[in-house]
Amino acid sequence: MGKSVFIRTYGCQMNVYDSERMAGLLKPLGYGVADTPDAADLVILNTCHIREKAAEKVYSELGRLKRMKEARTKAGGDMKIAVAGCVAQAEGAEITARAPQVDMVVGPQAYHRLPELIARAARDGGDILETDFAVDEKFDRLAERKADGPSAFLTVQEGCDKFCTFCVVPYTRGAEVSRRVDAIVAEARALAAQSVREITLLGQNVNAWTSPPPAGAPGEAWGLGELCRHLAKIDGLDRIRFTTSHPRDMDDGLIAALGEEEKLMPYLHLPVQAGSDRVLKAMNRGHTAEHYLRLIERIRAARPDIALSGDFIVGFPGETSEDFEATLALVEAVGYASAYSFKYSRRPGTPGAAMPKQVAEAEKDDRLARLQALLERQRQAFNAAQLGAILPVLFEKTGRHDGQLVGRSPYLQSVHVSAPQSMLGSIAPVKIEDTTPNALAGVLVGKGEAAA
Ligand code: SAH
Ligand code: SF4
Ligand code: F3S
Repeated sequence: MGKSVFIRTYGCQMNVYDSERMAGLLKPLGYGVADTPDAADLVILNTCHIREKAAEKVYSELGRLKRMKEARTKAGGDMKIAVAGCVAQAEGAEITARAPQVDMVVGPQAYHRLPELIARAARDGGDILETDFAVDEKFDRLAERKADGPSAFLTVQEGCDKFCTFCVVPYTRGAEVSRRVDAIVAEARALAAQSVREITLLGQNVNAWTSPPPAGAPGEAWGLGELCRHLAKIDGLDRIRFTTSHPRDMDDGLIAALGEEEKLMPYLHLPVQAGSDRVLKAMNRGHTAEHYLRLIERIRAARPDIALSGDFIVGFPGETSEDFEATLALVEAVGYASAYSFKYSRRPGTPGAAMPKQVAEAEKDDRLARLQALLERQRQAFNAAQLGAILPVLFEKTGRHDGQLVGRSPYLQSVHVSAPQSMLGSIAPVKIEDTTPNALAGVLVGKGEAAA
């Protein structure tokens, strides 16, 4: 009889990728994917620990699941609950202490062991905790990759050695590890063979990726630029993206590849967090505002049309209003196509949590509102600049209206177009005619490209 698993994903794209791989791992055990937890035999919460709010959400969801599980048990059935991801790694056994309804706690580098854990939970009951770091083993043991649509994530690097003083990631994901070229190529080929047209290479510090070249290729060590050029040779793959990059790892090879490799899309997520050197130093970012601005100049010289995106934190401990003005000035100087911004959240165990001069919540609210207003103006300006342009759009899904498809421009903007269903998964030129707050709208130009 078929069983079912419901997976809820919080946090970053890496978690989205991991959830997909967990579903793939459970499929051979007879688990189909359920759309809701209501009738699921297994519920997995793939969690995020990055800010306090993200971690709290998990406990409120566990409260709801507890009632569901109790009702199920009363009716003579069963429901297992697993907590995976970064909260699992950070809080470990505290989770089962606080939420006894949880059967399994499995960290982001140990989820390949889920099949064993499930078997153990069925056999022995009790709490099961698995939070070892075993990245290489994990990737080797994952099942065949199944594609879902024309765009796919592909993790190439995990972990972080940077230890920004606000951030939990080095603790939850462990040290920087790069996957081998052959494993990445095999996964990319498998995706291309299933009609995937675009891959986004993922890593917490994706541009720190490095590996010996494959047999026969020259050089001692490859960087992300070489990897992208290599993946670009795969037939059928037309677009390559990567995220998230760190300014310190943005080397000449990668910048040159952005300028020269046509399949590399002109979009770069390059977080800077703040614009004041004093704050950048306290954050342990390892670079100054000037260094970042010069880097942007070099990237734009290589790829003039590149769309830049970033992450920002307001209200880091000790941030004065002058420091915050420096963030606004940096944003003005760069001109972002899109960006994410957050109020500083004090995370237990990170150096920032113990720093003096924590900024008052009301002050953070005020700074965030001002920063977001500026970033939103820049985003609208970037979108408006595309009016009249003809952009290649990859159609990814059907839209809300009949006969409408939604795709992505090279700059990662959503584009709404009237187009036949048969064009899903194809790339076609679209003339941009309108902008809405969150997307562009346009019309097909010429006959477009027939769907494969
Ligand atoms: N590895 C990536 C991003 C990791 S987390 C990088 O280095 O850029 C994603 C974003 O969450 C960060 O860029 C940062 O802006 C934000 N973030 C991380 N810790 C935070 C905290 N304690 N409070 C608020 N925002 C935080
Ligand atoms: Fe966190 Fe900094 Fe590492 Fe990014 S580089 S994951 S912000 S510690
Ligand atoms: Fe969150 Fe972990 Fe990603 S803390 S942002 S899920 S790496």
